[in-house]
Amino acid sequence: MKKLIMCAGLLLLPMLSNAQEQRSDDYVEYRQAAFNVMGWHFKKMGAMIQGRIPYDAVEFKRRAVAVSMLSALPSEGFLPETQKTELPTRLKPEMWYQKERFDKYMQDLIQATAELASQAGMEDKDDLRPAFGKAARQCKTCHDRFRESN
Ligand code: HEC
Repeated sequence: MKKLIMCAGLLLLPMLSNAQEQRSDDYVEYRQAAFNVMGWHFKKMGAMIQGRIPYDAVEFKRRAVAVSMLSALPSEGFLPETQKTELPTRLKPEMWYQKERFDKYMQDLIQATAELASQAGMEDKDDLRPAFGKAARQCKTCHDRFRESN
């Protein structure tokens, strides 16, 4: 009986490691999806600020609130196990040695986007430029340091 259980255990092993790989791939897909959704809204806000599409205070506010909430989501996807993923990822591996700095950049983003969301709704888009610029700088600071530039 013991033998049988051991055999069953051995049979299960590859399935387990498979499940774990699957799990860490899920995390990679999750964080990329979260960034993509956030980027979707942020890009449209940028286009309004730059005058490439008409400025609409209500729409801008709606997107700014979305970005502010979304900015807290990607962190969960940076699970140490994801270092083994074979999915395409632009995360620079050195992030794992500078995780504190990375987390700090994430916090800075959360703060800057909350500020932007609270200011959004103004009639004149030029009044939003500083807060938008500050949020955009948080994206760039982290991307320059921790995202592969391909
Ligand atoms: C703390 C770091 C950090 C901050 C802040 C950050 N990003 Fe990223 N972003 C990344 C990393 C790392 C990736 C790559 C993730 C991967 O491929 O696994 C990424 C990926 C993305 C992607 C997915 C597509 C691609 O180019 O890889 C978009 C879109 C994106 N970020 C937009 C933004 C925007 C917009 C902001 C600011 C509002 C922002 N990010 C702020 C680190 C950050």
